[in-house]
Amino acid sequence: TGTGAVAEALLGHYDMHARDLPWRVSPAARRAGLKPDPYRVWLSEVMLQQTTVAAVTGYFERFTTRWPTVEALATAPQEDVLAAWAGLGYYARARNLIACARAVTVDHGGRFPGTEAGLRVLPGIGDYTAAAVAAIAFDEPAAVVDANVERVVARLFAITTSLPAARPEIRKHTAEITPRERPGDFAQAMMDLGATICTVRNPSCLLCPLAPHCAAHAQGIAESLPVKPPK
Ligand code: ADE
Repeated sequence: TGTGAVAEALLGHYDMHARDLPWRVSPAARRAGLKPDPYRVWLSEVMLQQTTVAAVTGYFERFTTRWPTVEALATAPQEDVLAAWAGLGYYARARNLIACARAVTVDHGGRFPGTEAGLRVLPGIGDYTAAAVAAIAFDEPAAVVDANVERVVARLFAITTSLPAARPEIRKHTAEITPRERPGDFAQAMMDLGATICTVRNPSCLLCPLAPHCAAHAQGIAESLPVKPPK
């Protein structure tokens, strides 16, 4: 099928164990043809930058109830959006959020661009967010690398180079294992794995669907990776 053994094992696990998150379309619904709303995917990814899933959930529910579409957010008074953002921190993110909603509304007729390159030029959308939205909302086979994915991939390939020097290699390997089918589910499954099984400390290798493919697990060095920058 073109889907490698790692993606196959991970997606099979995700079908059974995907976390139920308010911005997520379940793998079953996704297979039945339900498409994620790019606005909700984008909003969740911006909120999740430097903020945990647990902290974001309530904010996401309040934002999407009050501003259900990108046009609604684009036309909201800036002070209302900044007030609703209070507590999430990094106010530059909130100001970029408004600027991005306005750009999508004014320059793109209210529809988010469907490619990584098209998304990348919008306010507040960096490499990570462009890849995440392209993969999750549009099923583009983009390499989505956040800190959780970085850890999973460093362990899978037993990359012992320290961060940040290891990043190009990690990105290359992530691109190699990203499948052309279900790249959005794959990206979300990698994030779930990093958050719940392939954790920083005490990874649950006995429960991990990727353990048979994991070079660090084979060498008994999973917990020591990725190697932190020297001080
Ligand atoms: N962290 C950042 N983006 C995420 C997502 N889409 N699912 C789970 N955790 C995430």
